[in-house]
Amino acid sequence: MIRVLSVASECAPLIKTGGLADVVGALPAAIAANGVEMRTLLPGYPAVLEALGKTKTIAKYDDLFGGTATLMAAKVAGLDLLAVKAAHLYERVGNIYLGPDGKDWPDNPERFAALSKVAAEIGLQGAGGWVPDVLHGHDWQAGLMMEYLPDEGRPATVMTIHNIAFHGLAGAEKIADLHLDPLRFTPEGYEYWGKVSALKAGLMRADRLTTVSKTYAAELMRPEFGMGLDGVMRSRRGVLTGILNGIDETAWNPETDPLIAPYKTLKGKAANTAALRAEMGLPEAEGPLCVVVSRLTEQKGLDLLLQALPTLLERGGQLALLGSGEPSLEAAFRAATRDPNVAVRIGYDEALSHRMIAGGDAILVPSRFEPCGLTQLYGLRYGTVPLVALTGGLADTVINASPAAMAKGVATGVQFSPITAEALRVALDDLCDLYAEKAQWQKLQRNAMKQPVGWDRSAAAYAALYAEVLGR
Ligand code: ADP
Ligand code: GLC
Repeated sequence: MIRVLSVASECAPLIKTGGLADVVGALPAAIAANGVEMRTLLPGYPAVLEALGKTKTIAKYDDLFGGTATLMAAKVAGLDLLAVKAAHLYERVGNIYLGPDGKDWPDNPERFAALSKVAAEIGLQGAGGWVPDVLHGHDWQAGLMMEYLPDEGRPATVMTIHNIAFHGLAGAEKIADLHLDPLRFTPEGYEYWGKVSALKAGLMRADRLTTVSKTYAAELMRPEFGMGLDGVMRSRRGVLTGILNGIDETAWNPETDPLIAPYKTLKGKAANTAALRAEMGLPEAEGPLCVVVSRLTEQKGLDLLLQALPTLLERGGQLALLGSGEPSLEAAFRAATRDPNVAVRIGYDEALSHRMIAGGDAILVPSRFEPCGLTQLYGLRYGTVPLVALTGGLADTVINASPAAMAKGVATGVQFSPITAEALRVALDDLCDLYAEKAQWQKLQRNAMKQPVGWDRSAAAYAALYAEVLGR
């Protein structure tokens, strides 16, 4: 049995802003069969505290970065959770990362340093008698954990990069407040262009690094994708591996999904498409109903979709989008609803996201970069043909409908490259051609639905990595 403490700032179904939460929430159950006992350490946000139910107090801190704190344990939704209850850090209304002004909370460095500090202490002393063999941190919010561990006599450590765009930077004046060793404020340590980088701390010091697809692992070492850390990634290439995300098939399975009209076959899917059109106020159409479920940020390439949209509409296709994020993108998509074949819901809505993925003919993911991406995997599982940019996990999970792949009967979607509006326009045009030939379209859908997109293989890969780093 290998004991692993997973350390993250999000975990579905308790608290989620993106795919990180899905992964952190699904991995413990998926990996249990591989002889790994995984517990998850989270910040005690209001949503987490509310979900905890019956708790056990494990430890108390008189001064955790400016206030008292308690480490609590509970079992929720099949997860073994540890939560840091610290009112001064986590108990505030609104977004977990952003204040009411839409900017990062000014004390984000302290908030996630606190999470990291507690993680390191659990790694060294255990929690209520449970001592992890491996500390597994996710993204920058867990990065400083590595700085709070001694060089000797520490548990094995793994860091997973879900998105290298977020570095968790803090001004150098915070070194003392963050209880960091000033001697390690160097390019070989946690220093990044004169600032403290929580992500870099993790990347430099963890025993093993992973990211969420093989292609993104390779991309990270290139300047176009490394976001300033490509040199660091190159220096650590020997310990870096890509392990693809899976989807939680207890939540995302068209045959059992309680949030849709469940279906096994394409005939059953049609009812969901009709229902989605009705719900979104879209008329019947000649072309495919394309859906998007996404954060609205630069990463997701949805500005390219706005430019290419006329092509889809000219071909009789439709767009239904659910998302929230940058105000300019929200406004631009709202304005696009002037066309009766475009429907937009701005906001975050878990139930609607299921209805959209079940009801869509195709799902569009035109990301500029995408470490893994989950919505294209949901699309595959639901027979909703993914149209994706050729990058990161999107490259690794979709088989492009080239003439050769169609002839062999292995295609599962459409990929485009380079990642430009023009190439997206061509891809949308191709998608409409494929859709117009019902037999081949349905072949594509059936192939998609047959792809393995669950956690089995990747859970085994994480288990093997833990065993390897422990020398077992
Ligand atoms: P990222 O983590 O970069 O946002 P992923 O594709 O890995 O991208 O994961 C996004 C997750 O968030 C998916 O589970 C997706 O369904 C969900 N999601 C994104 N936007 C919304 C929204 N507006 N409403 C509901 N779910 C959303
Ligand atoms: C990040 C990435 C996304 C990935 C998710 C979970 O948010 O943007 O591609 O699927 O993390 O690993």
